[in-house]
Amino acid sequence: MFKEIQEGKTRLLVPIKESPLVEKPPVFYNPRMKLNRDICCSVVKVLMKKEDITFADLLAGTGAKGIRVANETGCKVHLNDANTEAYHLILKNAKLNNLRVYISNKEANLFLHEKGRFEFIDIDPFGTPVPFLDAAVMRVKRTGYLGVTATDTAPLCGVYPKTCYRKYGAIPIRSEFCHEIGLRILLGYIAKTAAKYGRGINCLISHSTDHYFRIYVQLSEGNTIAKKALENLGYVYYCRKCKIREYEKGVFPSSKKCNCDRSYEVGGPLWLGKIKDQKFSSAVLKESEYLNDRRLHNLLTLICEEVEIPFYYDIHKLCKSLKRSAPPIDKIISKLRSKGYIASRTHFSPTSIKTDAPIEELNFILL
Ligand SMILES: C[S@@+](CC[C@H](N)C(=O)[O-])C[C@H]1O[C@@H](n2cnc3c(N)ncnc32)[C@H](O)[C@@H]1O
Ligand SMILES: [Zn+2]
Repeated sequence: MFKEIQEGKTRLLVPIKESPLVEKPPVFYNPRMKLNRDICCSVVKVLMKKEDITFADLLAGTGAKGIRVANETGCKVHLNDANTEAYHLILKNAKLNNLRVYISNKEANLFLHEKGRFEFIDIDPFGTPVPFLDAAVMRVKRTGYLGVTATDTAPLCGVYPKTCYRKYGAIPIRSEFCHEIGLRILLGYIAKTAAKYGRGINCLISHSTDHYFRIYVQLSEGNTIAKKALENLGYVYYCRKCKIREYEKGVFPSSKKCNCDRSYEVGGPLWLGKIKDQKFSSAVLKESEYLNDRRLHNLLTLICEEVEIPFYYDIHKLCKSLKRSAPPIDKIISKLRSKGYIASRTHFSPTSIKTDAPIEELNFILL
């Protein structure tokens, strides 16, 4: 059974759970992912201002994302899902919105290899995007785009480090800034996958929201460019006792030690380059206004204002270990700025800040 809803500016038929005895509906739809789709539509709107693009919704489910992109941006869209019931629902959703879109019912990798090349390929899987990334990199056009979602945040954030190593070839660190480590491991993996096929990446915008990571990259072609992109990979070093974290680009991790003489925990390889393009993110914020959504506006504003410094400090956790009550975040930020440091809030965590100040300085302000 289905019900009609409105998401963004689009009408959608979505499944309803028929009875508590049925484990799950025949087609997947998660209303909490609306924000992910809102940002995706806004991103495509920005891209469409520059050039006409073709958008492939590789794992479309109800078609919520691809149908919205077609309806709200005017972009040419292909939708695909291996589930036959999903395929029939996408047909209905296209008709409901009077859209002319291409719809197929294939295994995703097969779809990519058979259907030519696309300017934008969207990967929105259950869990990890890893099984789809090679084919997506091969089939995205020369300077095309990938939109990648990962909901396997537990391995990427260090709850299951061995699973993270198996899938991404990287070691995570369970810590108060594990979400940024997870996002950067995923981004590093995308860069490594692209590099295998002689392609480089530039991250346009990315976010960590609820239970998932989402990354938008633009690809470029050439072995030299691919090698250059890989120079952004490196490692993060963390002392759990002093809360000190360092990071360093490079192929191999070093055997650094913390000032307290403990060995650092090492995470990576991960991406230490930019996780957003400032101009692009501001353009996305502007384009998103048509949706008139406060949560969307606040998230994109935070992303735009976030300084480009890897890793953040959780003020509440720092204060807890200093046995102090936490001052307001904005007060700490202005204190750091008045001392000449760079500092901002971060979209990764409402109780955290990013700064280039050393931890000693931060502790001094908090005491
Ligand atoms: C998380 S859902 C997609 C949700 C959708 N993008 C949205 O915004 O509502 C993942 C979808 O991938 C499909 N799927 C899983 N493995 C696939 C494969 N190997 N090839 C094609 N489709 C697949 C599932 O049937 C499911 O509909
Ligand atoms: Zn230490």
